[in-house]
Amino acid sequence: MIEKPMIIQELEEIQDTALEALKKIENEEALQNWRRDILGRSSAVMSVFSNISQHPKELRPLIGQVANQVKQTLETALLDRSEIVKEAAILQKLQDEKLDVTLPGRRPVTGRYHPVSTVLRRIYAIFADMGFQVHRSRDVESDLFNFELLNIPAYHPARDMWDTFYVEGEGVVLKTHTSPGQIYAMRKNAPKPTRAILPGMCYRYEQISARSEIQFNQLEVIAVGKNITFGDMKGTLNGFVRRLFDKDVRTRLRPSYFPFTEPSAEMDVECFVCGGKGCSVCKGSGWLEIMGCGMMHPVVLQNGGYDPTIYSGFAAGMGPERISMLLHKIEDIRYFWGNDIRFLEQFR
Ligand code: DAH
Repeated sequence: MIEKPMIIQELEEIQDTALEALKKIENEEALQNWRRDILGRSSAVMSVFSNISQHPKELRPLIGQVANQVKQTLETALLDRSEIVKEAAILQKLQDEKLDVTLPGRRPVTGRYHPVSTVLRRIYAIFADMGFQVHRSRDVESDLFNFELLNIPAYHPARDMWDTFYVEGEGVVLKTHTSPGQIYAMRKNAPKPTRAILPGMCYRYEQISARSEIQFNQLEVIAVGKNITFGDMKGTLNGFVRRLFDKDVRTRLRPSYFPFTEPSAEMDVECFVCGGKGCSVCKGSGWLEIMGCGMMHPVVLQNGGYDPTIYSGFAAGMGPERISMLLHKIEDIRYFWGNDIRFLEQFR
């Protein structure tokens, strides 16, 4: 029997150590390194093939055969190990990305209505039930519509009631109130009856404070027809207020002055913070002012296209921000247009 050539013994040793090392490999990168070191072009095993001519001729078949076996054994072992490593990687990934489906969900962030939009929608609904239509109005108004046609000629002292933003150009203003809408609504309907509400943003050149803003909403109410009386106005506005605030809320009308109404009044509701006893919100009076109103002035009816000897009407104007402040006990009007998300998020 010929003695085992040295090289064969070496190959067997290489195989044993390589297999031993392979068993400990846990990741793809180490596998690739192992493949390069053990089975790569310049590895000990592969160089047996390229250097086979250094061995005696009669031993070459045996050496070749053993080298082939070693190579094959190592390749198979590599494949097996690579399966194991891959599987472990998948398990690890599953473990890492494990989802706990029993965790409570996070509430998605959804938008919500601005508190003024909510109030406006409630007001629309109440007046819609009473047969009023919603009209849109413009932000920029002519002096004619904002003042003149509402019985407020130039140099009328009542112009001081509205600190006005003038737009460049002759006689153009940012509307200071929603009352100009009265003229548009009447002209659209006359001589048929008009029943309309007109919401819109108003602008005033004022010192901004907790109580006054340079921009705010108003909502105008108008009803024109034959035989419309002060009693109709009182009934309509009372009905509205009771639906908006509370069915038992008390109201009162106080005499007032507006150039476009005669007689003019202001409507107060009983302070719902103190129930009429007097507190800081109602400044001790027990009442909260919520709108101006009155019977439409004959000049205004005429400008709207109605003959004031045949037709009559009432009008009212209210501030949705102010109403929202009363409903939610908000103490500063600047919150409404300050865009502080913490304020806005409180209204669901
Ligand atoms: N336009 C008035 C203002 O801005 C509010 C107002 C008062 C409107 C009486 C009316 C009304 O229609 O009748 O202060």
